[in-house]
Amino acid sequence: MRAIVVREFGGRPEAADMPIPEVGPGQVQIQLEAAGVNPFDKRIMDGFLDGKLPHDFPLIPGTDGAGTISAVGSGVNDFEIGDRVVGKFLVPPVGHGTFAEYIVVPCESTIAKLPDEVTAIRAAALPTAGITALDLMHAAGVKGGQKILIVGASGGVGSYLVQLGALAGAHVLATARPDDTDRMIRLGATEVVNYGRITVTDSPTHALDSEPSVADSVRITDPGGIDVLFDLVSPPPVFADNASLVKPGGAAYSTVWSADEEDLKARGVTGGNLESTGGAAELRELLRLVGNSDLMVPISNMPPLAEAADVIGAPGARGKTVLVI
Ligand SMILES: NC(=O)c1ccc[n+]([C@@H]2O[C@H](COP(=O)([O-])OP(=O)(O)OC[C@H]3O[C@@H](n4cnc5c(N)ncnc54)[C@H](OP(=O)(O)O)[C@@H]3O)[C@@H](O)[C@H]2O)c1
Repeated sequence: MRAIVVREFGGRPEAADMPIPEVGPGQVQIQLEAAGVNPFDKRIMDGFLDGKLPHDFPLIPGTDGAGTISAVGSGVNDFEIGDRVVGKFLVPPVGHGTFAEYIVVPCESTIAKLPDEVTAIRAAALPTAGITALDLMHAAGVKGGQKILIVGASGGVGSYLVQLGALAGAHVLATARPDDTDRMIRLGATEVVNYGRITVTDSPTHALDSEPSVADSVRITDPGGIDVLFDLVSPPPVFADNASLVKPGGAAYSTVWSADEEDLKARGVTGGNLESTGGAAELRELLRLVGNSDLMVPISNMPPLAEAADVIGAPGARGKTVLVI
């Protein structure tokens, strides 16, 4: 089968012909049509799980994928050949991922059947980023009228989180580079906090380049503070500055292990470092929202599988990238 592989940790992804995996008892084989790309794929390829889980090389990366069940092992009752499904898969030994024409996974994996109205390509953009966004919403218990700040809003997790926040009736402040401002508003942001180099023109002959911090901008626009911070990108010192905007009794979460949980507690702020634990139930909830048109799947890029090397680990995400297999 066609697949993308790396031959060692840190290696460049390349196209390869790999054997089609066969089903064993309790497993299903999925013929994949599409695979979602996440920052975690690159981390795995670079050895993030080395020493924690066994790996097989050549290693096929990819955790998110959607397609059709093409074989079922003995003892599988919940799925049959022909079912259209989507899932999030990280099954040891690591190296048998979704950037390939076929995958074999245990039937109790994070896997859900697709409603007729959701295509495999849209579904493949959901699992990791969508489930993480839903986990963050559940953890913080976001309520209507609350002010939430999403830092890193323009990427995969953020583009779902902005929508889920708006759906909950929250006042959503979303960070974006200036050229991505309109998309954030369309997704449901109430306010957009621009970051990166911004040129301020205060007279016909004078322009000033500045790079204000997100926290400094929000202190000006929302001096009363915020109820919830979801920070998807900042290193610890920047997270601490952003978290200082949260009112006592509020919540602050990092998805990149930047929160000092003792420090938050001392300020009467709940939350901390969130590791996504959502599974098939959360995936079904996301599919229901997409099927009802309450959630838009924010795909910005759909290259063919053979071009995976150009997009794995690439910066500047605007929503999701999905590899078309
Ligand atoms: N803990 C968990 O369980 C869990 C689960 C899922 C994801 N994650 C992690 O959470 C992070 C976000 O995931 P993702 O899938 O959304 O990543 P992504 O799709 O790559 O999005 C990251 C976004 O953040 C923007 N960004 C970068 N620096 C920024 C800054 N200083 N201020 C504001 N925005 C900035 C990027 O745009 P520009 O490059 O244009 O700035 C990009 O749009 C990743 O590190 C991922 O590994 C953790």
